[in-house]
Amino acid sequence: MINRRKIWLAAVLIPAAMAFGQQYGGMWIPTELNEKEMKEMGMKISAKQIFDPSKPSIKDAVVQFNGGCTAEIISPQGLLLTNHHCGYGQIQKHSSVQNDYLSEGFWAQNTKGELPNPGVTVDFIADIKEVTKDVLAGTQNQDDAAAQNLIDRNIETVKQGFKLEPWQKVVIKPAYYGNKYYAYVIETYKDVRLVGAPPSSIGKFGSDTDNWVWPRHTGDFAMFRIYADKNNKPAEYSEDNVPYKPKYFLPVSIKDKQEDDFTFVFGFPGRTTEYLPAIAVEKVMNETDPAMISVREVALKTLDEKMRADNETRIKYASKFASIANYWKKWIGEVEGLKKSDAVGKKQQYEQMLISKNSQIKPTIDGLNRLYTEQGPYALNRAYYTETVRNAETLTLANLFTNYIQSYEAGKIDSKTLESLKSRLSGFYMNYDAVLDAKVTAQLIALYADKTAPQFLPKGWEQYQDEAKNIALIENMSKNSVITGRAALKGATVYSDIDKVFEDQNALVKNLKKDPLMKLFSELRETYIRTTDGKVNALQSEIDALQKKYMAQQMETDKDRKFFPDANSTLRVTYGKVKGSNPRDAVYYGYQTHVAGIMEKYVPGDYEFDVPRKLIDLYNNKDFGIYKDKTGDVPVNFTATNHTTGGNSGSPALDAHGNLIGLNFDRQWEGTMSDINFDPRFSRNIMVDTKYILFIIDKYADAKWLLNEMKIVK
Ligand code: ARG
Ligand code: ASP
Repeated sequence: MINRRKIWLAAVLIPAAMAFGQQYGGMWIPTELNEKEMKEMGMKISAKQIFDPSKPSIKDAVVQFNGGCTAEIISPQGLLLTNHHCGYGQIQKHSSVQNDYLSEGFWAQNTKGELPNPGVTVDFIADIKEVTKDVLAGTQNQDDAAAQNLIDRNIETVKQGFKLEPWQKVVIKPAYYGNKYYAYVIETYKDVRLVGAPPSSIGKFGSDTDNWVWPRHTGDFAMFRIYADKNNKPAEYSEDNVPYKPKYFLPVSIKDKQEDDFTFVFGFPGRTTEYLPAIAVEKVMNETDPAMISVREVALKTLDEKMRADNETRIKYASKFASIANYWKKWIGEVEGLKKSDAVGKKQQYEQMLISKNSQIKPTIDGLNRLYTEQGPYALNRAYYTETVRNAETLTLANLFTNYIQSYEAGKIDSKTLESLKSRLSGFYMNYDAVLDAKVTAQLIALYADKTAPQFLPKGWEQYQDEAKNIALIENMSKNSVITGRAALKGATVYSDIDKVFEDQNALVKNLKKDPLMKLFSELRETYIRTTDGKVNALQSEIDALQKKYMAQQMETDKDRKFFPDANSTLRVTYGKVKGSNPRDAVYYGYQTHVAGIMEKYVPGDYEFDVPRKLIDLYNNKDFGIYKDKTGDVPVNFTATNHTTGGNSGSPALDAHGNLIGLNFDRQWEGTMSDINFDPRFSRNIMVDTKYILFIIDKYADAKWLLNEMKIVK
């Protein structure tokens, strides 16, 4: 029985929510913008100025950075702005004990001083075309497998139909769960140099404690430059390359912001699932998220103890720890947010509303309910298994070596696969502490043995439920193992010469097969494959087919709603207003933080909350130049109602005129369920204020030559 009071409440609440932005959020394809609504909300430019394939437009200044993050061009010389955490790997690679750019920051003095990063790419989107009709041609009355075959062939034909320049490629991606298809013409530049980065005490200020948290005070930015050949076209790195001349670059605004100012974010959001049925959300909230959280919690606790006690471990594990902690913390926020926003209840009501308008939706929902219920235990086991193998590094190694043995025995190891395995492994061993991880692995195996339902547990694994016994057992196995390197190296814990490991592959495979850890892992892996893997995937295929239908039915039936496709790492625009929030009873978050707040958080010498001397001096002397706002202080971060997700890091936040006002880097914790259920009351994206970025470049780094390149709007 549906709750009538709730329905009535929803009807009353929806217009109120819409008053400040989109009720369901929105990440729009730039060729399909809601120009009218954007203008009503305050936008002063046209949709064409944002995206125009034939004339310079804002999209020509927005790139996907190295396949994951977003970045934007802010000068006629190809100067690129992205997040510190997006450029972290490059900054780290150029760092050494003598030149510790992570700790001290890095600022090139001129273009000659910029540092190359082989392998790093940026992708421009030259054009977007909807190609649904051609891709789905002829598939109407075919079964799923035949249809997919035809779709794959059609995609090839459609691709051939594009007239491309030699430096372009076209990628076709499904949207709306395969109900539509879009083609993207992409230009990839391959010479991207590091120009500047603040020290981590600015760029990563607050670190994991403040991650996903508002109020925030992080200067999460770094600068690169795109280089091109003499014809301004993409080229591999060469000394002869010259700064790229963009079709368009973003003016940088240092005007004061007001609450409710219109803003939009342009970038490459990675993945969302906004159109799932209630049952799927319930499974994430009550089963898989908590499982994944629990595994990471154990790993983090053990790593943290040693990292705090030992400096070398802290450096070795800094990046891994941050990556484990990032989604651990996000999922906790997500679960809370799903509960608090009553995501399941709202979805159930929505389903009833749809069914009342279109009775054919009932069998779809019933089918999804049945499939998700059947898949539940398998999906839960998959969550435990994948997180255990990911976070117990020794098991990650065992998994890599198991794949290797299989390929070796199938005669599939050529020199290329061997080289890539070797480079993967040597990277792995460089930051691997086998003794520390033996402890993590032992604890995660105990957790797995404890939490896994009997039908999924390898035979005899009940014995591993005792954590203390496990630690002794795994430590002993680890000491005598080839994969940890400790057997071969007689107690030392890192393979520095990976070539030696693969010198005699026959012998290696023989030794691997005798290895106690490999044996233990194979029990786990084989049981997982036998009991879960096939089943969970087969059910997922059925779910996907029905979800495609459900998506189409939602779009046909809910005529008042404007739909956007879930994020899929393609270029999108989201828009909203600069805004604070009211996340809990009697708690109100302002929309903006200032340098004074950095000083409030300052803990001298702390690895998360230390503040560089020079910034303290600038603050004490009120040496803020033209970057202070009406409060007399420099704004640091601000929040808005834009609907963003992972991949939007580094995205430009623009004002009503298309000027850059912020650099997106995070979301506030209470709203991270926006990947599944955007709620305009709690979902906020977090940006670095351009005033703070320019203040740091100017007053802190004294890199005025970079400011001179930019077009600054005062
Ligand atoms: N939470 C942000 C995003 O998902 C920033 C992550 C980087 N910062 C960190 N402290 N781990 O990626
Ligand atoms: N921090 C994320 C990123 O790196 C952005 C987010 O999830 O809001 O893309």
